[in-house]
Amino acid sequence: MPVNILYAATPGKWETYQPTLTKALQATGLDFDLRNEFDPEAVDYIVYASNSPLQDFTPYKNLKAVLNLWAGVEGIVGNKSLTVPLARMVDKGMTSGMVEWVTGHTLRHHLGMDRHILAKPGEWHPVAPPLARNRRVTVLGLGALGSACATTLASLGFDVAGWSRSAKSIPGVTCHHGPEGLRAALEHGEITILLMPNTPETENTLNAETIAMLPRGAIILNPGRGPLIDDAALLSALDTGQVGHATLDVFRVEPLPADHAYWTHPKVTVTPHIASETRPDTASEVIAENIRRGEAGEPFLHLVDRTRGY
Ligand code: NAP
Ligand code: GLV
Repeated sequence: MPVNILYAATPGKWETYQPTLTKALQATGLDFDLRNEFDPEAVDYIVYASNSPLQDFTPYKNLKAVLNLWAGVEGIVGNKSLTVPLARMVDKGMTSGMVEWVTGHTLRHHLGMDRHILAKPGEWHPVAPPLARNRRVTVLGLGALGSACATTLASLGFDVAGWSRSAKSIPGVTCHHGPEGLRAALEHGEITILLMPNTPETENTLNAETIAMLPRGAIILNPGRGPLIDDAALLSALDTGQVGHATLDVFRVEPLPADHAYWTHPKVTVTPHIASETRPDTASEVIAENIRRGEAGEPFLHLVDRTRGY
C-alpha cells in the first residue's frame, strides 16, 4: 500500500511543489502517492498551509500528521477538528532568506544609509558610521529564525542580546528569557528585531510600556507577525522620537490597507510580508523526512505544541 499524501497547501503552488515533493519523497525510498485531491479517508499525511481552503479535518479519519509549509501556525493551531500531530516548517532556505533580510535592514540603519541615499546636492555629512561592535542589537525570539539572525549579526561584530520564553545559550549572544528578562533585552535594543510567533502571550509584546524601555530613538524591525506590536503605541512613539524608525514586514491585516497610517508615516518602511518565504526545494526535503519518520515510527521534527500555540 502506498503512503497517500494530500497536497492541500496554497492551491496556486501545486505545480511548484509537485516536482520538488516528488523528488524529495523518491529520495526516501517510500512507496507513495502524492496528489492534490484524494478520498479523505485514504489520506495518511496532509501538506498544508495556513491559508488553505481545507479547514475541516474531520473527514480525514486515518490521517497521521499535518505538515505545514509555513513557520507560523497561528492560522491552524486552534483548529479543533485537527487532532493529529502538526509540524511547522523549519527550512534552511527560509532561514537564509530571513537572515539576509534582517542583516540588510539592520545594516541600513546601523550605517545610516538613508542619509546618503536621500541626500540633496551639496549635503555633505562627513561622519563615518560606528563599528558594529558599538551597536547594540536585540532579537526578540531565539527560535529557528531568531537564533540564526542573532548569530549572523554577532558574527559581524554587533553587540547582540536576545530574548526567548525558555533559557538559551547561543555563542556570542547575551540571552535573556521570560517576562523577567524582557526589560534587559529591550534596554539593549538600539536596533530591536521581532521574530516571535503570534500567540495570545506574545500579542502586544511591544506596547507603550515596553517601547519606553527601548533606548531613545531605537529602530524596530518586525518580520515576525503584526500582532506582536501595539500599532497605536508604535505610531505615538515614532511621533515623540522614542522610536527612530520602524521597518515592518507583517501586519494585523494583510495586505496592509491603503489608508493605514504606516504607509505614509515618514519614519516607517513597509515591506509586503516578503522578509522570507518557504523555498520549495529545501522545504520538500523537510516534509519528506517527516513522512519517512512517521512511517518508521520515529518522532516527527518541528512539532507544534498546541498549548503554547507555536
Ligand atoms: P520558533 O523556532 O518557534 O521560535 C520562536 C521563538 O519565540 C522561540 O525562541 C520562542 O521561545 C520565542 N517565544 C515564543 N513565545 C514567547 C514568549 N511568550 N516570550 C518570549 N519568547 C517567546 O519560530 P521561527 O521558526 O523562528 O519563526 C518565528 C516567527 O517568524 C514565525 O512564527 C512567523 O510568525 C515569523 N515568520 C515570518 C516570516 C516573514 O516572511 N515575515 C517568515 C517566516 C516566519 P522558546 O525558544 O523558549 O520556545
Ligand atoms: C511566513 O510568514 C511563515 O510563517 O512561514
